[in-house]
Amino acid sequence: MSARRHVNVLFSAPKATYEEFHPAICAALQAAGVPARVAGDLAPEEVDYIVFTPNDLISDFSVFPRARAALSIWAGVDKVLHNPTLTMPLARMVDPGQREGMVEFVTAHVLRHHIGMDRHILSSSGWDQVAPKLARHRKVTMLGLGELGGACAQALSALNFYVHGWSRRPRALEGITCHAGPDGLEAALAGAEIIICLLPTTPETENVLNAHTLSLPAAGAVVINPGRGALIDDAALIAALDSGALGHATLDTFRVEPLPEDHPFRAHPKVTVSPHVASLVRVDTSAAVIAENIRRGEAGEAFLHLVNRQAGY
Ligand SMILES: NC(=O)c1ccc[n+]([C@@H]2O[C@H](COP(=O)([O-])OP(=O)(O)OC[C@H]3O[C@@H](n4cnc5c(N)ncnc54)[C@H](OP(=O)(O)O)[C@@H]3O)[C@@H](O)[C@H]2O)c1
Repeated sequence: MSARRHVNVLFSAPKATYEEFHPAICAALQAAGVPARVAGDLAPEEVDYIVFTPNDLISDFSVFPRARAALSIWAGVDKVLHNPTLTMPLARMVDPGQREGMVEFVTAHVLRHHIGMDRHILSSSGWDQVAPKLARHRKVTMLGLGELGGACAQALSALNFYVHGWSRRPRALEGITCHAGPDGLEAALAGAEIIICLLPTTPETENVLNAHTLSLPAAGAVVINPGRGALIDDAALIAALDSGALGHATLDTFRVEPLPEDHPFRAHPKVTVSPHVASLVRVDTSAAVIAENIRRGEAGEAFLHLVNRQAGY
């Protein structure tokens, strides 16, 4: 009986990521029953699958004639989506561990503003007994109801927040008042006190929070953006914070990363900056997703989490 053919997996990632993920990907492929060679320096014509970080380490995908799929270990693939040489199926990362982390990040930051933690815990003097309203009386709007936004919206709903959500196509999520499409945006934002952005960047979503849309939420509303920096018009956001239309912005993603030291967000008293850490991909759970997709490819089954290039995410 001939030995089963091993698949050649090119793993293209920065050195630290490579060293962190390589053992987990090998172990996950073994657990999935896929004999594989995973390396960073395979001959291009031998590559069966490309596992990669979409940060320009590979610029020309046409040199991999037999590669069956490009499997990103990042959730966001906006940097590679428009590469004309990437014609093979492209899957993004949908990692259950990352989803769990995002739910924790979003819930924590929503509760910070809901409870008024800064006012009650950080002040060094005074005795300002302002009770927060109950969550059920606080409208929270989730822009994006996908893998991450949907899970966060449902976690907030489980805490009794009055949750509205907005997506491209109509959605039905238990406990969430769902809006869809360009016509649904104003109703989603109107009167909201906390707005969370978990959208991808596409031509339709860039600057979705702008001078007009930032005038729709309740006065003093809070914006939390762990999605992408380009979703927000930076100048409009600062103007809304300065005028009091918005009370605070918690920003994890930016148009330029790392956020330049002299960017106005850094010193603004109403802005909290975090360094794109809302939720990182978790090694073990994401390696299992990669291995499952390669197993599927070998079994002739449909790949999971394929990117819809027309929709742009
Ligand atoms: N900061 C971090 O650490 C971090 C970590 C991971 C991911 N992210 C970012 O989080 C974002 C969301 O990730 P995800 O996995 O939840 O993505 P996803 O599953 O693809 O969901 C995207 C959501 O956005 C909606 N959407 C897309 N275009 C729209 C439009 N034109 N109008 C209205 N809604 C639109 C989609 O609508 P449909 O439901 O109709 O498709 C969907 O609900 C991405 O930008 C990703 O890069 C950040």
